Parts: sequence; C-alpha cells; structure tokens
Amino acid sequence: MKTVYLETVESTNSYCKEHLAELFDRTVVHAARQTSGRGRFNRNWIDLGSGNLFMSFVLKPSAAFRENFSNLTQYLSIVLCRVLEEYGIMPEIKWPNDVLVNGAKIAGILAETVVHGKEFSGIILGIGVNLNAEPQGLSSVKDKIITALNIETGKSINPDRFRNRLTGKFFEHYEDFLEEGFSYIKDEYIKRACFLNREISVKVFNEEKKGIAEAVNDKGELILKNNEREFVLTIGDIL
Ligand code: BTN
Repeated sequence: MKTVYLETVESTNSYCKEHLAELFDRTVVHAARQTSGRGRFNRNWIDLGSGNLFMSFVLKPSAAFRENFSNLTQYLSIVLCRVLEEYGIMPEIKWPNDVLVNGAKIAGILAETVVHGKEFSGIILGIGVNLNAEPQGLSSVKDKIITALNIETGKSINPDRFRNRLTGKFFEHYEDFLEEGFSYIKDEYIKRACFLNREISVKVFNEEKKGIAEAVNDKGELILKNNEREFVLTIGDIL
C-alpha cells in the first residue's frame, strides 16, 4: 500500500481521477482539508474542519472481478463498521452504504469507476468520516442529521490512528472480497441493516418508490415490495 498526503485539495476523489495514470494500485490518498468534496448524486460533502477523514483508495483490480466492483462500497461500509465498533459504538447500515450511529450519518462513501474507451483504468473509492466535529458544524448541514465520532464517544479522535485501522482492515480481506463478492459480507451486512422489514421510500434518480424493504439479495440489491409490484434496486437513496 502506498500513501499520498495532501494538505488541502478540492476533492481526494477528483485528485485520484486526475492522477490515476501515475498512481499505483492500492494507493491511499488522504487530505487534511477538502474545499469541494463530492458526494453521491452530485451532492457536496462538507468539510467539517481538520481532524476529520477525507480519503480515497485507488484500486486497479483485474477486470475479471468486474461484477463485484459495484459492491466495493458495501464492503467498505462493513470495514468501517468494524473499526467504529472498536471505539465502543454500534453503527448501522442504511442501504446501500451509508453508515449511521444512533440514526445520524457519520460517514459517506463514493465510488467512481474510470474507463477510457472500452478499457477499465481503475476504481476510486472515496470515504469521508466525521471524526472530530463541533456541534455547530454538525447543525450547519441542513439536509440530513449527521454526527461525528468525537460526539458519540465524548473523546477527541486521532485521525491517523483511525485511518490506519481502516486501511489495514480494508486490505486484510480485500482480495477475498474481490473473488467472492457481496456474499462474502452478506450476513454481516444484514445483521447491521437498519432498513429491513420497514416501509420505506427510495429515491431512484427523479422517481420515488415506496414499499417494504423485504431483503438484500446476493448481489447487494435492495428488494422493495408494495401491493402492485416488486422492485430490485441497484442504485438509490433511502429517504
Ligand atoms: C455521500 O454520502 O454522498 C458520499 C460522500 C463521500 C465523501 C468522500 S470525502 C473523500 C472523497 N472525496 C470526495 O470528494 N468525496 C469522497
């Protein structure tokens, strides 16, 4: 594993995209501050100050594992839960890869696949974790309820130690995961899922689908059922 540290960057994901050709497989790029952090569905990822985690994995796996690439975000959400548990808290997962503590979002994960023509060049797997935030910083985010690890534990968090635990655990089982795919983590994912067997609404691009979250299948897709039909969702945002 190689590590690149940047003091301030627009976005670690964007940096990795721009420098993908020169970055080796399994490089971790992290920054103290992000000025234009990006989230899923073109949302922003707000920088809550230094002491938080802004990081991207550069991954160049064999295209033979292509069908498991889209589940890497779910694998990372499980790895994050394992690390958070070491701090004595009980995280939950909201499909597909949001990690919540006491119902509030503590982290966000954004994967981007880079393809040139038909050639697969790599995956950039970005993660932001709120490690050290002030209560007023948390309430400045209006569109969702968020939390931070220092608030949940009552202690300030060492970001380097947290990052080392996360990257260590990520690479420990990365190859097993690539070979097996979602089924490698399915039981653990289900155990931590907070949305199953509930009436939910899922935003899929501009459409809202309502139903009971019946299951997560072997591909990590969400099975949503209502009186009219069953949906098998590969992408979306539980509202
Ligand atoms: C989301 O929940 O919408 C995903 C947020 C992902 C944020 C991280 S922070 C590090 C990396 N760089 C980015 O610009 N985004 C990801």
